[in-house]
Amino acid sequence: MVPGVIKRLFWQRQDERLQQFAETEAFGARDLAHAALQVKDPWLRRQLVLHAQDEVRHATILEEGTSPPTRVGLGASVLGDTVAESGIDLEQMGEVRFLAFVHLAEKRAVEEFAMHRLALGEDGARFDSILADEKRHVAWTGHALERFRKDGRGAEVDAALRALRRQRWMNIWLAFARRLSVYSSALILSLIYLLLVAPFSLLAGRWKAGWQPGARGPIERPF
Ligand SMILES: [Fe+2]
Ligand SMILES: [Fe+2]
Repeated sequence: MVPGVIKRLFWQRQDERLQQFAETEAFGARDLAHAALQVKDPWLRRQLVLHAQDEVRHATILEEGTSPPTRVGLGASVLGDTVAESGIDLEQMGEVRFLAFVHLAEKRAVEEFAMHRLALGEDGARFDSILADEKRHVAWTGHALERFRKDGRGAEVDAALRALRRQRWMNIWLAFARRLSVYSSALILSLIYLLLVAPFSLLAGRWKAGWQPGARGPIERPF
């Protein structure tokens, strides 16, 4: 039952959804490639480059899943770009926080792709190789965090993970509150209209259903 609900909720417009996923992968590749240019540790740089290449491949697979396949080369087209405002930047965040962020994001990606794989059945086969890569990304970023711990930066790693989890819950709450405020203001305005404006209009005899003539007269054309 749950896969059916997920399919209905997320996959009504399959092409749009695939394109959205492809964009997320491509922008991830851009941020990782940009980070690779900034780190000094050769092991870390190599991992970031390999990871960025995987994300480009994911963008391509997803893009090619649309019908007809779009093939605009989304991943490759953004790989050399600098980080956008919406992106994550290793220089601003610092290595520990950046890697903690990527580690948590990859864990979420594994859960989400597994969920969509299940929901789409045979159609979801394109997620298999992506899912395998995402698991590897969780593993290498976890290993990178362990290396920081061995270097005596365990407290920094824990603090970064805690802060990022807190920030994510805050973002979820804000998104929910924003949506709730839209619905509640629509409800309150409808109630005001139904309970106050409509009855008083009726009492004042000003209720007229259907089309009403406009206040302005006919347009006079000079020709
Ligand atoms: Fe990916
Ligand atoms: Fe990934």
